[in-house]
Amino acid sequence: MAFKILGVGNALPKFMLDNQMLSKMVDTSDDWITSRTGIKTRGILTDEKLLDLSVAAANKALNLANIKADSLDLIICTTLMGDTISPYHAAMVQKSIGANCHAFDMNVGCSGFVYALEVASAYFKSNLANRILIVSAEHMSNFLDYNDRSTCILFGDGAGAVVLEKGENLLSMKLITAGDDSILRVTRHAGNFPYEKFGFNKKEKSTQNVWMDGQQVYMFAVNCLVNSIQDAAKQANININEIDYFLPHQANMRIIEAARIKLGIAKDKILSNIERVGNTTSASIPIMLAEYVSKFKRGMKLLLSTFGGGMSGGSALIKW
Ligand code: COA
Repeated sequence: MAFKILGVGNALPKFMLDNQMLSKMVDTSDDWITSRTGIKTRGILTDEKLLDLSVAAANKALNLANIKADSLDLIICTTLMGDTISPYHAAMVQKSIGANCHAFDMNVGCSGFVYALEVASAYFKSNLANRILIVSAEHMSNFLDYNDRSTCILFGDGAGAVVLEKGENLLSMKLITAGDDSILRVTRHAGNFPYEKFGFNKKEKSTQNVWMDGQQVYMFAVNCLVNSIQDAAKQANININEIDYFLPHQANMRIIEAARIKLGIAKDKILSNIERVGNTTSASIPIMLAEYVSKFKRGMKLLLSTFGGGMSGGSALIKW
């Protein structure tokens, strides 16, 4: 026994930063960004908070599911960081939507949503919950250096949510962790504890919040998508051609296209919104689920596939 999805929701910032605006901030161009990534615009939080997007996405999902917040048994938020470290994000979502269940955050980089599905599935199997809300919410513009053209063009802010109930619609799950900080890192802000004054010399001085070796990450991503999709299909004992839609993590259109070609998947089965929203890390897949919900018919097979920092990745095959 695992779960079925009862409702989905998403929310994006009011302000969309386009490539023309970015090219006035750093030495780049619409042509370079579009041809290398497929991204045209991305949402940036300005006067709103991440909590506002999270609550809007959660309420949409609850409304679609026709579920009241006080009937939830658990809330899981996936995020690199909410508006504050403490209270953690899920606690503030719980308060804001009027729920009274327990709630916790998970940080698995861009892979958070798919990992949260596995945690939810384990809760259902152990009879610890009947209804779970997952909210994946990311404020990447908070970490980016808008002088660094190699990273600031890629990411956007956003939130996506799903309401799950006990059910039979998880067909298979394949998760991957390959711990490695040499190709992708998001470092923390240095504190100001005066170590040196006490004779220590340990203070980490981070000069760049988001650092990556783009080409290495690209190779990891393509391999991760291909391997985890193949493994998830094999585990469910189905052929990749039997899958109706693929919702791959939206990091770079070229990554998705390279994996699509390797796997021999028809173009119209790949869903994407990267052109408008950029890479919204763990919010990427639930944002797409909500955006494309009208396409999904009961019984269709959907493959949700992710990769990202950690390094991490994985695929979940679900029946709608
Ligand atoms: N605008 C213009 N030029 C840029 C640029 C930008 N925004 N960013 C980098 N460049 C330049 C580089 O400086 C380099 O110039 P050089 O040849 O004079 O040294 C050139 O473009 C090529 O850079 P490179 O890094 O080789 O480009 P790329 O084809 O690998 O594309 C990425 C860069 C980041 C788009 C690509 O590697 C990628 O998407 N990687 C995966 C990143 C990712 O998905 N991260 C998140 C994981 S969840």
